[in-house]
Amino acid sequence: MNIKGKTILITGGASGIGLESARQFLAEGAEVIITGRNQAKLEAAKKMLPSVISIKSDVENQDDAIALFEKVTALGGIDILYNNAGVGSPALNLGIANDQILKNAMYEMNINYFGVIRLNNVFIDMLKSRKEAAIINTTSILSLVPALEEPTYAATKTALGFYTRTLRKNLEILESNVKVFELLPPVVATEMTAQRKDKKMTPEELVKALVSGIKKDQFTIRAGDTKLLYIVSRFFPKLAFNLVNPKKIYAGLR
Ligand SMILES: NC(=O)c1ccc[n+]([C@@H]2O[C@H](COP(=O)([O-])OP(=O)(O)OC[C@H]3O[C@@H](n4cnc5c(N)ncnc54)[C@H](OP(=O)(O)O)[C@@H]3O)[C@@H](O)[C@H]2O)c1
Repeated sequence: MNIKGKTILITGGASGIGLESARQFLAEGAEVIITGRNQAKLEAAKKMLPSVISIKSDVENQDDAIALFEKVTALGGIDILYNNAGVGSPALNLGIANDQILKNAMYEMNINYFGVIRLNNVFIDMLKSRKEAAIINTTSILSLVPALEEPTYAATKTALGFYTRTLRKNLEILESNVKVFELLPPVVATEMTAQRKDKKMTPEELVKALVSGIKKDQFTIRAGDTKLLYIVSRFFPKLAFNLVNPKKIYAGLR
């Protein structure tokens, strides 16, 4: 699909992959609206990219979603809803069955999964009314293989991956004009992964793959190491599990 001339709403657009996406979509000739919970972060992003419109909005909150819809409507609406906002709570040294794990799971699920469904529900009619529209959902390499270090986070992304595929098919059956893209990043160098020592893709490289995928109507965009892990996980699931969960991390889980 064409990006030029489209208006795109990027949730969690004030940092990391979202901010880099704002930069690259602007360069492609799109209008960009970003959201986030932290006003200071939004203002800093606006200083970096003066032509973005920033709106404080929490994807966990239904009233915020409605208020966001009203503000976006007043601005002329959007063609692309990019569900990028996400959180992860590392579970290292936390154990696996305790109250903190439940708290983390609920927090992550409310943002990474229910937050996406919430915004899609609010914006779907607006998107259907546009000539060419899209929803982009960001899952993860960890939607393919469970991760001992981030068990509840990976589960939110698997849930989102299943939802995304059914959303796409449903909209196809309805002969809707709304295309549904899934971005599966590998480990990317952002605030979210600051503590990790693994090999990391840069946000620039990841977003280049996203932009190129959108232009080609490639609905499932597996970037970097996600491509290889996808193949390995299909044919050699145990190997894929061991690649994501090398034995050296076991000590941190005891
Ligand atoms: N980095 C990776 O290795 C990686 C890999 C696979 C997938 N992903 C996914 O990629 C997406 C972007 O992550 P990132 O790496 O760029 O992380 P990041 O730098 O931490 O950015 C996440 C953004 O989401 C916003 N956010 C969090 N909760 C929100 C909420 N309830 N409402 C609105 N905005 C919210 C944050 O801003 P505020 O805190 O100000 O709200 C922040 O700007 C996430 O969905 C993440 O799960 C990342």
